[in-house]
Amino acid sequence: QLGWRLKKPVVMVGMMGAGKSAVGAALARRLGVPFLDSDAAIVEAANMSIPEIFARDGEPFFRLKERQVLARLLSEARGVLSTGGGAYLSAENRRMITEKGVAVWLDADLDLLWARVRHKDTRPLLRTADPYATLKALYEARVPLYARADLSVKADAGYSVDDMTDRVIAAL
Ligand code: S3P
Repeated sequence: QLGWRLKKPVVMVGMMGAGKSAVGAALARRLGVPFLDSDAAIVEAANMSIPEIFARDGEPFFRLKERQVLARLLSEARGVLSTGGGAYLSAENRRMITEKGVAVWLDADLDLLWARVRHKDTRPLLRTADPYATLKALYEARVPLYARADLSVKADAGYSVDDMTDRVIAAL
């Protein structure tokens, strides 16, 4: 079967629009293991959407909830856990993820990310006067941190969710 790495939860990390939720869900299905999503768990616990949490309580509160949810899901998780784009950035979250799981970075370039997020209104961080510039700045600041993941898998506009899932499985 697959290598030692699957004894630990597989944690999908990377920018918004990289495909963490879609590929994570497909990967879990393919491996026959549970799928968990940290953003979905935050929304469920708060009974509010992510834009509502940011608007009402602010980003620091969201990050606190994100850390708590990650700690809980990592201690329960058997399977695949998708995270929000900011979840792998704090040293504490990276330490938890590294200790308990295998981090897989879905490495999509800026043009692909922009093509995927530009028409959506679900990302409060991109509600700025110049969302492309904001995305670019986040991308540039975050890539060196995502690059610390255990594995990275390159995304490409030509790859389907199934193609990406194959590539993750090949890397595991
Ligand atoms: C965020 C990404 C979002 C969500 C929140 C913050 C980020 O998740 O957690 O809006 O900091 O990049 P996705 O990566 O699933 O869009």
